[in-house]
Amino acid sequence: MKYYILFGPPGAGKGTQATAMVEKYNLHHISTGDLLRKEIKAGTPLGLQAKALIEKGCLVPDEVVEGMIESEFATVKGVDGFLLDGFPRTLAQAEALDQILAKTGDEVTAVVSIMIPDEMIIERIQGRAAKEGRADDASVDIIKNRIATYHSQTEPEIAYYQKAGKYNEIDGIGTIEEVRDRIFSVVDKF
Ligand code: AP5
Ligand code: MG
Repeated sequence: MKYYILFGPPGAGKGTQATAMVEKYNLHHISTGDLLRKEIKAGTPLGLQAKALIEKGCLVPDEVVEGMIESEFATVKGVDGFLLDGFPRTLAQAEALDQILAKTGDEVTAVVSIMIPDEMIIERIQGRAAKEGRADDASVDIIKNRIATYHSQTEPEIAYYQKAGKYNEIDGIGTIEEVRDRIFSVVDKF
């Protein structure tokens, strides 16, 4: 079983590129952001807790998303692997993921990191705001807070995965197809 992490700042194109990757490599896409938005829509207690944090551009507690990931791994069958989008997002989540996978003798196959500059993040998210109506896309202040959260809490994972020899960075600037082909040329190696 392959375990790919699709890494990158908000708006880098993780969700966009996940669609093509899932099809080409027969993977199950797990976006913790999408799972949390479903909880919010369904009005569950977890959704209510997550809503307040997401709408400020902050992260939800590690245990919440770790539980979601573990239950997806246990229930989804018939695929060649999993594509994690938006998880792990803190060093503690990265360590928890290693522990979850170790239980079945598995490990992270590779991290594919899509990199774009901060100015482009704002531009892309503002472009998406009108189409998807996500509450955390609604103002520049929230987007800036998401970027700051990314730099302080998520970026340290880069060194963690570089040390493990699993980090592959690709340039996220260019058309969707150009970025997709760069990703394919990395993932084809595994
Ligand atoms: P999440 O849903 O994961 O949001 P995110 O990481 O901020 O990333 P986005 O979904 O905004 O961007 P994306 O990289 O998927 O870009 P997309 O493909 O849409 O998380 C939301 C919140 O949930 C978090 O802030 C946090 O509160 C909580 N959360 C989630 N996971 C968590 C975790 N593990 N721990 C704790 N909290 C968690 O592309 C963006 C736009 O750009 C689109 O309009 C797209 O069409 C366009 N685009 C894409 N590629 C290109 C291109 N090459 N050229 C031009 N336009 C492009
Ligand atoms: Mg996304």
